[in-house]
Amino acid sequence: MIFLGIETSCDETAVALLKDEREQLVSLVSSQVDLHQKYGGVVPELASRRHIEVLTPLIQEALIQAGLTLKEVDAVAVTRGPGLVGALLVGMETAKALSIGLGIPLLGVNHLAGHIYAAFLENEVKLPALALVVSGGHTELIAVDEEEKFRQLGTTRDDAAGETLDKIARFLGLPYPGGPQIDLLARRGDQNYHRFPVAEMDNPLDFSFSGLKTAVIYFVEELKRRGESVPIENICASFQEAVVNSLISKTKRAIKQGSYKRVIVSGGVAANSRLREKLRELALKLNVELYIPSPGLCTDNALMIARAGFALFKKGLSLSLKEDVDPNLSLYE
Ligand code: KG4
Ligand code: ZN
Repeated sequence: MIFLGIETSCDETAVALLKDEREQLVSLVSSQVDLHQKYGGVVPELASRRHIEVLTPLIQEALIQAGLTLKEVDAVAVTRGPGLVGALLVGMETAKALSIGLGIPLLGVNHLAGHIYAAFLENEVKLPALALVVSGGHTELIAVDEEEKFRQLGTTRDDAAGETLDKIARFLGLPYPGGPQIDLLARRGDQNYHRFPVAEMDNPLDFSFSGLKTAVIYFVEELKRRGESVPIENICASFQEAVVNSLISKTKRAIKQGSYKRVIVSGGVAANSRLREKLRELALKLNVELYIPSPGLCTDNALMIARAGFALFKKGLSLSLKEDVDPNLSLYE
């Protein structure tokens, strides 16, 4: 079976063709970074308009690259939420049109489930497993009991990890999106330069990053006030270390609490080199199997949406045409 995946929840227009569960025929991602860079963040109106311009040509291009015609597509999977409502609608309306026109099933995918299923593209992942989804919009520890059965174990009380990285990068004058920039600069810095604090929460599996963000801003402003130079690489390394340590310590706790044997880590921040390194160390120490998709599958893409659509299809969970996008779509019952 050939699944067409469509992802337009935020600032990437992505289209992919997936054959059966694993065969990646083509994956195209059209980034809007150029559009939003001068604003330092995503402008929803501009995002929707760009999705409209780009999506149909991208689907055509994907078919050409795979040497397929629309008639050979067996199902269409699209991100239904969470995300920006206008951006989601562009993908959903296009997917509905294809579903009606071709007479094929429509699968409405939760973006977070998409990130989790990205791990299934490169490996056979047995369940139950623990999943950590870390992206620009989410920081969640999730129990994946079986396919399509998710339980929230922990979440962020304020900013998401990626959002914090992006905000601090912007404050430091680095281009949007800041996560990859911090990753690069941190490699040349000293992570022990300064110890930034990360708050503890009542639920020990919850995250909080806003205090850390304030601490970094105060620290840099104090340096400037004293007329000292700002060692940007050291600051990036120390700040990134604080974010990574928080993610690692909560993941470790969740593994121990649930006696997990398998851990999936995905979402844009899972492309971070330091996080990947420390997760590998943790997995070795706790003797758990670690599944982190390759960096291009951690950040937003449509292969993961197609794969998540496949899981819904197997369970007979197709979306009726009466249903719509949900910008706050929950992963949990
Ligand atoms: O999953 P994603 O592509 O989109 C959302 O669903 O949010 O994640 C985007 C986030 C951004 O905050 C970006 O700065 C971050 O992932 N990111 C990284 C890296 N690559 C992307 N953060 C740290 N290190 C990276 N290498
Ligand atoms: Zn995402």
